[in-house]
Amino acid sequence: MLTNESVKVRSLGEPRFPSPLKLSTTPGDDVADFVPEGAGILYDIETGPGRPLAEPVVFERAGPRQKLFFDPAQVRAAIVTCGGLCPGLNNVIRSVCVQMWYLYGVKEVLGIRNGYLGLNPASGLEPLLLTPDFVDRIHKAGGTVLGSSRGPQDPAVSVDYLSQLGINILFCVGGDGTQRGALAISEEARKRGMALAVVGIPKTIDNDIPYVSRTFGYTTAIDKAREVLDCAHNEAKGAPNGISIVKLMGRDSGFIAAGATLASQEANFCLIPELPFRLDGNDGFLAALKRRIERRGHAVIVVAEGAGQDLLASEPRERDASGNVKHADIGLFLRDRVVAFFRSLDMQANVKYFDPSYIIRSVPANCEDALLCDHLARHAVHAAMAGKTEVMVGVWNSRFIHLPIPLIATGRKKINLESELWASVLVATGQPARFGV
Ligand code: F6P
Repeated sequence: MLTNESVKVRSLGEPRFPSPLKLSTTPGDDVADFVPEGAGILYDIETGPGRPLAEPVVFERAGPRQKLFFDPAQVRAAIVTCGGLCPGLNNVIRSVCVQMWYLYGVKEVLGIRNGYLGLNPASGLEPLLLTPDFVDRIHKAGGTVLGSSRGPQDPAVSVDYLSQLGINILFCVGGDGTQRGALAISEEARKRGMALAVVGIPKTIDNDIPYVSRTFGYTTAIDKAREVLDCAHNEAKGAPNGISIVKLMGRDSGFIAAGATLASQEANFCLIPELPFRLDGNDGFLAALKRRIERRGHAVIVVAEGAGQDLLASEPRERDASGNVKHADIGLFLRDRVVAFFRSLDMQANVKYFDPSYIIRSVPANCEDALLCDHLARHAVHAAMAGKTEVMVGVWNSRFIHLPIPLIATGRKKINLESELWASVLVATGQPARFGV
């Protein structure tokens, strides 16, 4: 259960240095204000029947502090991007570098190459020196100029290397695996009495980080997925009994599939990891698809990669370098089952299969994600300079907050089947609420 104790943010020590930012402490003077320690954002803003007012859980509000833990002249920072690609990585790198240089006057910002691998000197991957000139145009491109990788490194080796480089602030951009790695590095540094601020920035197109309303990359992913669904719809309508199946990313959570379904309004079925479903039987998925084809002559199916895994072979699954279970391919499985099903009925079906996964996540950020990346990067820089550590910046109830990494590294955000989001998907698709389960 979330408690005020569990949302408490760790700090390296008493902030003593005055911030160089020309901000105010007086509301109403038309100058943006410092955020005082103790400023908070409510976890739950809802009230009403069935929701008695209890002691509120309050997240720490992010933002510029009047006093800093670090003397900017003594700071050497580094940034690392880990895990799969995600639209906006270069925006974050750019904004962190620019904020460090121009807001705080920190001119030593290193880019660690190829994820945590670059924190192991045995990799031979020398860090890059990031300057405003170097990062000037990088946000126009997808991918990450630093490169990325999956998997942890020995935290003792990473901390040795960080101290050899003289790094006292480390920004870790990534999902839950990356944040677990960040925590291990921070714990190792703490054990050694090293004042290292470790600040996470939440990245994943899957939008599955708990206590974060939206991770960067998610809306770009929906934008791109919507284009595919629109094409899939054209294909389905362009042939008698046309059936388009679109597989989208979403390892454990169906946010991309649900978001794209709503944005395009062209999907007739949306299958996500949170919704168990059966294929066979009168209330199964295939029978529902047949009824749809008989009624309308075409259908578009969106399936998230983590959906229906229980329907596939049950032998123990491999894990990727980040420790995630590698899913079997539900998209191809579904395609084959749909083809076989209509063949068994001797009924025509023109099945088209789309898998745009890597196209969706390797593009540059859209406007909304570009804005989010800039805000997250700026708040991460403020947090680090104030000496916050083992902390991730996030957005919650439309405000930027600090979250202790241990809190978010343990679970995943999932679609609640009773939520407005899922209710809207059911309306937009017209699919039954359940397929036999
Ligand atoms: O970033 C998360 C994600 O998009 C998942 O949905 C997907 O399972 C994973 O990345 C795939 O990444 P890769 O193929 O690089 O391991």
